[in-house]
Amino acid sequence: MSMDRREVLETVALVTAGAMVAPRAILAGDPDKTPDAGGPAFTLPPLPYAVDALEPHIDAETMRIHHGKHHAAYVAKLNGAVATAPQLSGRPAEGLLVDRAAVPEAVRTAVRNHGGGHANHTLFWESMRPGGAAPSEELGRAIETVFGSLDGLTEKMSAAAAGVFGSGWAWLVAGGGGALAVTTTANQDSPLSSGQTPLLGVDVWEHAYYLSYQNRRSDYLAAWWKVVDWQVVGRRLAAARA
Ligand SMILES: [Fe+2]
Repeated sequence: MSMDRREVLETVALVTAGAMVAPRAILAGDPDKTPDAGGPAFTLPPLPYAVDALEPHIDAETMRIHHGKHHAAYVAKLNGAVATAPQLSGRPAEGLLVDRAAVPEAVRTAVRNHGGGHANHTLFWESMRPGGAAPSEELGRAIETVFGSLDGLTEKMSAAAAGVFGSGWAWLVAGGGGALAVTTTANQDSPLSSGQTPLLGVDVWEHAYYLSYQNRRSDYLAAWWKVVDWQVVGRRLAAARA
């Protein structure tokens, strides 16, 4: 049975999520991700849906610019950085974020910013779908244990996202032992660099919402929850706990 495009993307995401809890495997590189000789090390993944598929919550022009310009720029600049550090060849961005000390100092900041931008946005696109999707029973139980209810989680994560000063992200992460927690990062920093596995992240850079929502970040957040694919989040948690 062949997989459709979303299933393929989810499988890739699960493999990546699984690798997140096995940093050594990431740092060793994945032969399947090794680029062809002479090709770019990193490529912009296609959106798993049409640019207008998340309307009215996320408008098509925002998606077009966010994915086609902002994410593409992170990929291009990450490629520029790793081109000067051949020892990083074939290593996925997530591995470089898990162990930043292994990245040569000359490109460490570039990899932190653009590798983070690439990994964070890849996870972000895959975390949404038109109409959203409800959590599995297992994820629902895990959420209730820590946050009381799904509403308890979304309120906590929305408050964290609203409180990010400037540009950054709010996250649902799996920490040690797979425990759920809400956290934030500045700029394009990844929870991976703090030993946490990102399960869900909301981009609160203004480029994610300004065209439709201007300075109303809380309105953007309220709309964003309507397109979250909790099924994907549940599969990431299962992989992190495996
Ligand atoms: Fe973004």
